[in-house]
Amino acid sequence: MKCTILVFGDVVGKIGRLALAAALPKLKSKFKADLVLANAENLAHGRGITPKIILDLESAGVDAFTSGHHVWENQTGLQLLNDPAHHIVRPANVDPFLAGKGYMILNVGNHEIAVLNLQGQLFMSQTASSPFLAFDRCWAELTATAKTKPVVIVDLHAEATSEKLALGNYVDGRAAAVYGTHTHVPTADEKILPDGTAYQTDVGMVGALDSVIGFEKNSSIKRFLQQTEAPYKLTEKGLAEVNGLAITLDMNTGKTLHLDRIREIVDI
Ligand SMILES: [Fe+2]
Ligand SMILES: [Fe+2]
Repeated sequence: MKCTILVFGDVVGKIGRLALAAALPKLKSKFKADLVLANAENLAHGRGITPKIILDLESAGVDAFTSGHHVWENQTGLQLLNDPAHHIVRPANVDPFLAGKGYMILNVGNHEIAVLNLQGQLFMSQTASSPFLAFDRCWAELTATAKTKPVVIVDLHAEATSEKLALGNYVDGRAAAVYGTHTHVPTADEKILPDGTAYQTDVGMVGALDSVIGFEKNSSIKRFLQQTEAPYKLTEKGLAEVNGLAITLDMNTGKTLHLDRIREIVDI
């Protein structure tokens, strides 16, 4: 059996949410998608999640969410990280006392897909343990009870391209796919690694086109010029970029058959 998964990187603020909702019907139909994943860390005005936002995106066609360090920054959304009614993960290799879980099992047809969220250690604001060893621990747990090879999708939320490429190659042949998030800029290196793992260093964001990684450009420039922590502003309307990846898996082998990079521009 084949299975096609659409994955989207960091969805930034209202314009990102609206752009994803606008683009999804056509993309799901074009790729005959069985599952849609999106990174939720920047959904609520750039920081974290809220119940209404998650419900809205579920209604728009997102099945499950990965995230990253910003997901804990909105108090109203923390309850969702432990709510079994929603499919949301946060990086597995951070403080275990923080809310949420690091991986989830999703049912797609008669098959199960595990979605694992990891965070990088290099140039990140939040301390994380080794994502390499965290993958090994998750893989050991999944294979301990499985009758067949687990199908595992990894969102690697990280800054450094070298760390992402190293992890992709470390899990080649075990994970079905590893894709990067966090930098918000898509990389042109999508490929299937030698042992069948789909890989892209960063799938890119869903957010304002005329921006600095989704944030209003003058507020971002001011932070660099003045070396301050001045608040970011978000652009609410205009053109938005929708970046993602369509991954077609062979569910019997847990390997990737085909990849397509997604980039749409929509007017919000
Ligand atoms: Fe982000
Ligand atoms: Fe991030």
